[in-house]
Amino acid sequence: MSLISIRSLSRDDILSLIQAALHQKKNSPQPILKNKILASLFYENSTRTRESHERAAKRLGMDVIGFAGTEGTSVKKGEPLADTVRMYQAFGADIVVIRHNIEGAAQLAADVLSIPVINAGDGSNGHPTQALLDLLTIVEKRGSIDNLKIALVGDLKYGRTVHSLITALSLFNNVQLWLVAPDTLQMPSHLVAEFEKATNTQVTKTPHLAEVLTKVDVLYMTRIQRERFPEGPEGEYEYRKVSGIYCLTTDMLKNNSAGIMHPLPRYKGMLEISMDVDALPNAWYIEQAKNGIFMREAILLGLLSGKPFAQTYSQPTEPLWKDMPITNGQKRGEHMVYRLDNGTLIDHIHANKGKDVLKVLSLQEDTQFIYAHNLRSSRYGKKDVLGFTNRELTEQELNKVALVAPEATVNIIKDQRVKKKGKIILPPVIDNLVICPNPRCITSAQHQEHVPQKMLVESHDPLVLRCHYCEMPIQREEIMLKEK
Ligand code: NCD
Repeated sequence: MSLISIRSLSRDDILSLIQAALHQKKNSPQPILKNKILASLFYENSTRTRESHERAAKRLGMDVIGFAGTEGTSVKKGEPLADTVRMYQAFGADIVVIRHNIEGAAQLAADVLSIPVINAGDGSNGHPTQALLDLLTIVEKRGSIDNLKIALVGDLKYGRTVHSLITALSLFNNVQLWLVAPDTLQMPSHLVAEFEKATNTQVTKTPHLAEVLTKVDVLYMTRIQRERFPEGPEGEYEYRKVSGIYCLTTDMLKNNSAGIMHPLPRYKGMLEISMDVDALPNAWYIEQAKNGIFMREAILLGLLSGKPFAQTYSQPTEPLWKDMPITNGQKRGEHMVYRLDNGTLIDHIHANKGKDVLKVLSLQEDTQFIYAHNLRSSRYGKKDVLGFTNRELTEQELNKVALVAPEATVNIIKDQRVKKKGKIILPPVIDNLVICPNPRCITSAQHQEHVPQKMLVESHDPLVLRCHYCEMPIQREEIMLKEK
């Protein structure tokens, strides 16, 4: 088991990790993981996350190998990520912790390795261990996460810590959330929608920090993620507009006991939290960073002790096909328009969608097909019908049909009779077919990691896919299929 996304954890998983981390904090560490090796692979800058993983490993008796920044490694020679991480497993690593600037990098490492992988931050996507140590700090200071009023402040667009945190918070009861950011740096709308749906509440979005100061129990400040803005003058301009937008000072916090958190580092040029706030009793951020050691001890123990803390993510297995009754075994009406004695007939395609189905199937030139469009349909008024002579469609072809024409029914015809009729049901995982639209995803060709597309079917009706790597949700209207 790996820890790649906070989505793989339940509320109980999170609470038991917090208890385990509190236990580690109270008791002196035991070398339970002696002789085990942590590969600590930090492709991006880090102080706290790397150091606390390594400290945690050493306190549990482990050895640590790896790199802090790619300078001096063969990554600089252009080595693919999959090769680098495989080397560390070959050199004896029992577990990998990886930080990378590309979204989905940790998932790729987990896919190519047979040892556990911990995601220590993948681009703007997620930072699950940070969310866990944040929640540990809240429980330690306030006793519970339920019923709290929390403001997430700053760069909610590019900040990966807040992406994991909002997802984790959606598992708790009665959490009221304020999202404080300029419009250009607001939380991605799908994460807001997921939180609102899961909690049946509404978040409040505002650019004004002053408005929320007296309303909340926890103020979670973040740094503007300069390094994630687009390169060039446009990015520079965008950054300048928001740089220094929030700066929390003691004056603003008079008689305010809200816990002040920050994943750190704060930026010394603009200071999201002014230095004088550090002395306040409700400045939690140094303790929060320290808690990183104990949470990472709990995670290493959970992943390596054979008592994993999460049930492995498993999709319900569904049939790929739903049989429908064959009423009279003949497609009589259609015989007046065309004739298909043997082959596959795709019926009840919405009018004018037949051409899309043909396009996604991109059948060889010599495939004989029938395309009847705008036929009368008792179901939709008008429909398209496609027939393929002497041909059954492969599973991948049927998946393509289901993605563009989910309403269609498929008939297998033998000797002029319908032998099998049904609806196609998409499998839980769709490999190498739907393109992830996120350019920051590791499957995007520009990153040259040669990772095939992989989509998880999250919901059938309405259809929602989720990229296995960068976790971006994709609705039916946004689906782009690979050409070949
Ligand atoms: C954060 C990160 O790297 O995402 N830092 C951390 O892990 N504590 C936040 C940041 O860099 O601003």
